[in-house]
Amino acid sequence: MTFAPAVPVRSIRIAAVGSDYMIRDNGEYYRQIDKAADYIKSCIAGLFESSPSILIVLGSGLGPLTDSCSIVKEIKYSDIPGFPVSTAPGHAGKLIAGRLADRNVFMMSGRFHYYEGYSLDEVTFYVRVMGVIGVKTMLLTNAAGGICEDMVPPELVAVEDHLSFFAEPALRGPNPDRFGVRFPDQSFVYDREYLDIMDKVAKERGINLKRGVYAYSKGPQYETPAEIRALRTLGASCVGMSTVPEAITASHMGIRVAAFSCITNMAAGMSSNKLSEAEVLAMASEASGESCSLVEGFIANI
Ligand code: HPA
Repeated sequence: MTFAPAVPVRSIRIAAVGSDYMIRDNGEYYRQIDKAADYIKSCIAGLFESSPSILIVLGSGLGPLTDSCSIVKEIKYSDIPGFPVSTAPGHAGKLIAGRLADRNVFMMSGRFHYYEGYSLDEVTFYVRVMGVIGVKTMLLTNAAGGICEDMVPPELVAVEDHLSFFAEPALRGPNPDRFGVRFPDQSFVYDREYLDIMDKVAKERGINLKRGVYAYSKGPQYETPAEIRALRTLGASCVGMSTVPEAITASHMGIRVAAFSCITNMAAGMSSNKLSEAEVLAMASEASGESCSLVEGFIANI
């Protein structure tokens, strides 16, 4: 598996403790972000009247959305300086710029997960690059296990909040002041107006869309039944291995975030089935028509 060059770090010596710590060098980090942003801008120069301000991140099952999009430009992640390369199954690894529902959009076909071995700086690198290019709205989609009894495959759940305080924080490290504040409020990570728009679109299109709290799990192993019971007690509705680091990073820099999950399985311990990637991919593809319809309707209404 190919790893992109790690986000730049510099070593500092903490005299009182007598050890060396590696921390991110923000100056070099900004330069890498600008370099990737400049490269993408140069690839789409002259192709749009105005550069896309919407980014859709395609989770499992959303691949067919690229068929509804009139593609103007495809850029391989491996050609973008500093971009990681996605290794997860079903994640193509390209950035698409095109037209969907009469709007200019970017689509990430393939994202980066912590469980692949990337640092959170690498997982969220693309979010900051997109923010620098001028993205103002980000729609994140994912596959998730249902924790509430009434969230069953292959339903869709709009994410209204998340649980992640037990995971490594996405914004850990020297704060990139250029993007946002050191201690960002987390009360409105998922845009309220966008949640209402998703509800309205779902109603119009006959999609049974619920709302719920997404619990972030670092993976790659699925959760244990005991972990699922704990998450249910804490108020989680569903659980998955993506989305939260990106949502936190995007809202930190003022990008408005919407997210929805496709419930692909009942979470561990809730059914007699063994959890498997095959079931996740099969259910995500079963829901693909509704997922794509919800995305299109959302984009048309924002
Ligand atoms: N747990 C974590 N991630 C997932 C699941 C799950 O049950 N289903 C799909 N992604």
